[in-house]
Amino acid sequence: MPSEAAATGLPAVSGAPEPIRQGRAKAKGRARIAFRTLVLQAHRWTGLTFGFVLLFVAVTGILVAYRPHLEPVVNRDLLTVPVCTERVSMDAIASAARAAHPAGELDYIRITTPDPGSARIPAVQVRVQEPGEYQHEVYVNPCTGEVLGQRDRYGGWLATIEQLHRFRFMEGGSFITGTNAILFAIVLLGGGLYMWWPRRARALRAAAKFDSGLTGRHRTINRHKVIGLYVGLIVLASALTGLPLAFDWYRYGVYALMGSKPEKVPLVTPAADATPLPMETYWRHVQALVPNPGETLIHFPLARKPKEALDIFTVTRDAPHAFARTMVYLDPYTDKVVKFIPYEKSSAGSKLYFWMLSWHMGLIGGKTANLLFPIVLMFGALGVPFLAYTGVSSYIRRKFRSTPESARLSVQVVGKRAEATDICTFELADPLGNRLPTFSAGSHIDVHVADGLVRQYSLCNDPRDTHRYLIGVLRVADSRGGSAAMHDQVQEGDVLEISEPRNHFQLAHGAKRSLLIAGGIGVTPILCMAERLANIGADFELHYCTRSEQRTAFLQRIRASSFASRVHFHFDDGPQDQKFDVQAVLSAAPGDSHLYVCGPKGFMDHVLTTATRNRWPADRLHREYFSSAPTGSASDVEFDIRIASTGKVYRVTKDQTVVAALATHGIDIPTSCAQGVCGTCLTRVIDGDPEHRDLYQTEAERARNDQFTPCCSRSRGPVLVLDL
Ligand code: FES
Repeated sequence: MPSEAAATGLPAVSGAPEPIRQGRAKAKGRARIAFRTLVLQAHRWTGLTFGFVLLFVAVTGILVAYRPHLEPVVNRDLLTVPVCTERVSMDAIASAARAAHPAGELDYIRITTPDPGSARIPAVQVRVQEPGEYQHEVYVNPCTGEVLGQRDRYGGWLATIEQLHRFRFMEGGSFITGTNAILFAIVLLGGGLYMWWPRRARALRAAAKFDSGLTGRHRTINRHKVIGLYVGLIVLASALTGLPLAFDWYRYGVYALMGSKPEKVPLVTPAADATPLPMETYWRHVQALVPNPGETLIHFPLARKPKEALDIFTVTRDAPHAFARTMVYLDPYTDKVVKFIPYEKSSAGSKLYFWMLSWHMGLIGGKTANLLFPIVLMFGALGVPFLAYTGVSSYIRRKFRSTPESARLSVQVVGKRAEATDICTFELADPLGNRLPTFSAGSHIDVHVADGLVRQYSLCNDPRDTHRYLIGVLRVADSRGGSAAMHDQVQEGDVLEISEPRNHFQLAHGAKRSLLIAGGIGVTPILCMAERLANIGADFELHYCTRSEQRTAFLQRIRASSFASRVHFHFDDGPQDQKFDVQAVLSAAPGDSHLYVCGPKGFMDHVLTTATRNRWPADRLHREYFSSAPTGSASDVEFDIRIASTGKVYRVTKDQTVVAALATHGIDIPTSCAQGVCGTCLTRVIDGDPEHRDLYQTEAERARNDQFTPCCSRSRGPVLVLDL
């Protein structure tokens, strides 16, 4: 039976009436934009402030992770002694430490059992608490009872780095490191992930990869996001596992999470005249209870309250990780066991807590793992300076973006040559004969042809040339002034203003084979690519399509080149068998080829559409357009631009570009082609739905919606938030 809506011809609606639903949607959109702006600002300012604490913690953390491996090497004579058969008692060791520090109170004794067959064995470490906050560590030879040396708790450069890492050089250091870890986890990583997350699911994979086509600030942001995604998870794990060391509430939370509580140990009831037993008694008892101890720490009874059990922990040599502690609580007066908790019988909360500590220290168990795992932590830690650099530099470049004027060069026309019908080449060099900035294949320069008349031309000489740029200019029949001025007014000896070379049409690194297709004057960047590929001995093929031989630029140069045999000319007025058959050329190309195409828009669209129809992956299609069709349309509507850094909102009228609208408010976005071709104006979009009208971005980049060209593109929705 047809529904009522169908019967009446009206769309089926449910819930609130349409105007109310639209109002709600708009309010929701505004709230989301406000939230996104807030997150970006919080992420940015937290990074610029607390990020430096994180940077400090990460860099020092690299050495802390390797401290257990470095200490025995750096302080060999303090921490180890030659192996012996007889050992002195723990009480003799304690007496030696006490004699070395008569004013101090002995806190604990740490015994490390040597590996079987070792030539050297670890010294016994005794920690002494001096009056006040000072702690000393006394190292005693277990074979002779001789004091090998002593140092402050954070003495020695490795220990000092740990002290710095934990901010133990100042009051409340744990609070600073802990707070910083929380800020990192929530604001930096959480906010960064939120900003990273593409608004279209299909762009997820692309967002996790480096984009070699980007340049300048967009490239920096892309690096920041991709590296942040990978190292952020490692640093997050480090931060979360280090928090129990900073905050008791966090440690209790870990236990509560696992449904357990920290162990409670019964008090002891000493007789009135009871005195603690010799330390050797406890040590022997521990060895009897826990066979195969690796590291054991025994507190001195007098350092405890009189009714507290003596707490001892030991980590067996076959323990799963360095913090897998077996706890032994003894009555210090009778040596009776008050509580004994082998690691495997610890509560789930204890296990998680100790596992977190071992993860944080990079000691996850097993000699190889303990050696290799810090490399993972180090990778995460090294990523932090990189993130700091890319984050700060992208911010600075946004704040103080350079104007095109600052990158201008003056060059002299040292050669002008008719290359083919309606095509001239111009050879440009520094007037003083200096080197010019280097360029890569596919680069172009802006040429300031006349006041306010700027045109982009690809460089078509060998990228190894250091003293000249060569450009080819086609006189366009319906020229807007640029090509006609170049042909008619620019002569040898003239000085021109140009930009430094920029490249939005790069050769893909590691491509096994390249298919180059040029249409007409589109040969300029393609020829430069052919030179480069030939220089490095890469496998490539070039198809060059023109109307006739007379209109074919660089014909002699190509025929005389080392790669002439790789070039196929296709003339529209030539025999049928040499005409360009894009389907055949694409089908014959090996499956791993990268395609580069440049030429008139219709020609390029035909090549690219055919390639897509033949299932060429988008990331192997590279293109550079010369100009676009007119981008304005009668159906254009007005919309708002919100500037993320200030929150200010500006209206773009239906007959204005975003660049023009913002310029009236003193916000200048550098432009060059003003047609969506060159990418100079590319601007990051924080929120909103851009309507892309450029020819610069690939389909995948457009789908990401995180940047747009304000010289020609508009907005589908009522507001776009720009990272300005
Ligand atoms: Fe060239 Fe906008 S100025 S793309």
